[in-house]
Amino acid sequence: MSRVAVFGAGYVGLVTGACFAELGHEVTIRDVLPERIDALRRGEVPIFEPGLEELLARNADRLTYTLDVAEAVRDADFLYVAVGTPPTYSGDADLSAVWTVVDELRGLEQPAALVMKSTVPVGTGATVRHRLDDAGLGHVGYVSNPEFTAEGNAIRDFQHPDRIVIGAFDAAHGDAVAELHRGIDGPIVRCDVASAEMIKLAANAALMTRISFINEIANVCEATGADVVRVAEGIGLDSRIGPSFLRAGIGYGGSCFPKDSLALKQLAASSGYHFQLLNAVIEVNELQKRRVIGKLKRHLGSLRGTSVALLGLAFKPNTDDTREAPSLVLAGRLAAEGATVRAWDPIVDGQAILPQATIHASPLEALAGVDAAVLVTEWPELAEVDWTEAARTMSNALLVDGRNMLDPAELRAAGFVYEGIGRNGQ
Ligand SMILES: NC(=O)c1ccc[n+]([C@@H]2O[C@H](COP(=O)([O-])OP(=O)(O)OC[C@H]3O[C@@H](n4cnc5c(N)ncnc54)[C@H](O)[C@@H]3O)[C@@H](O)[C@H]2O)c1
Repeated sequence: MSRVAVFGAGYVGLVTGACFAELGHEVTIRDVLPERIDALRRGEVPIFEPGLEELLARNADRLTYTLDVAEAVRDADFLYVAVGTPPTYSGDADLSAVWTVVDELRGLEQPAALVMKSTVPVGTGATVRHRLDDAGLGHVGYVSNPEFTAEGNAIRDFQHPDRIVIGAFDAAHGDAVAELHRGIDGPIVRCDVASAEMIKLAANAALMTRISFINEIANVCEATGADVVRVAEGIGLDSRIGPSFLRAGIGYGGSCFPKDSLALKQLAASSGYHFQLLNAVIEVNELQKRRVIGKLKRHLGSLRGTSVALLGLAFKPNTDDTREAPSLVLAGRLAAEGATVRAWDPIVDGQAILPQATIHASPLEALAGVDAAVLVTEWPELAEVDWTEAARTMSNALLVDGRNMLDPAELRAAGFVYEGIGRNGQ
């Protein structure tokens, strides 16, 4: 049993803390937001992640929540950093929360390992190492242990990882982090710190590249009469390619892909390299979100005075995360075109992120009287909608299925003009 301090009670910190507690470790989770810590102490979970509330409750005896650094690090063997690293104005990662944590460790007496879970640019570990040494913390090791969990499936991903990446300056600290994961079945990739940092950025870039690739194939399908769903199935069965991340849609969003792609682009640029492919991936994604507006205009003409329902606001299902969600871009573009926006999401507090939109309690309520609907997030609830009733309730039954979630033939039979992404309707 080890003692683990986790800095950051967000999506990654809470899942990490809960999963280590489940393995039998004593975990103290520290955040700087009093309302977050108070809520956790009351047994309330400040974010939505399936299974997290139950996991935290089940391991309550081994979990402590605090605002106090001294309490968090007391006797800790591992100091996990899971604070946010959002983009700065320049697109570089903002590491200020990371530096704050490193500075907060000043005076730590016991040997421990600082373990970086936050996604950081290559070279961060080396800089942290210098900063620790300068602060007289040579006895604190540094390990990069990047996080690959996907929101909505994070607990399963943590407990059954495709791999655990451990990059350390000193093998003993790497061994200790590997041992901390005992009980979790997954291959361990041991490497140097810079390579571990790059594995995280490169993995995200590879996934984003596949998304923008299939989205461009979808756009060519639209121009040529092929159906991207069949095309993705056909290429995904090729064992050299594989089926995942080949679902065409209105582009990726979320708290990781957009910021991590920008950070990698800027990291490359600052190192004197123009990362052409990544630039294209980012640009394709931006244009993909906006193509929805073109589709609506093709059917409605000017959008001025129309009303459009957005079905789903989270950047993907099973999360309440709306950071960089396509819904935000769409709502902004629709408002700029003069349309009124109505919206529904089963979890997200829509009014908080889209104050100009009217938020509705059910898809049918959001669809009442609108000129068009856009399926933005593939929430399972949308498969249960009575689309015949929906067509009746809309003033114009036009649906842009931004995730190719629904069956075009069924929607047309229900009375809809159906537009998917790269689909020919066969
Ligand atoms: N969200 C994901 O699914 C995911 C997946 C892989 C990697 N990551 C990376 O993990 C990191 C964390 O992401 P997140 O989504 O959990 O962020 P988040 O914004 O949900 O949580 C970060 C938390 O850190 C807290 N914090 C800030 N300064 C602190 C300090 N000095 N001490 C303690 N807590 C502090 C914030 O108050 C916040 O609660 C980021 O680098 C992100 O890129 C996220």
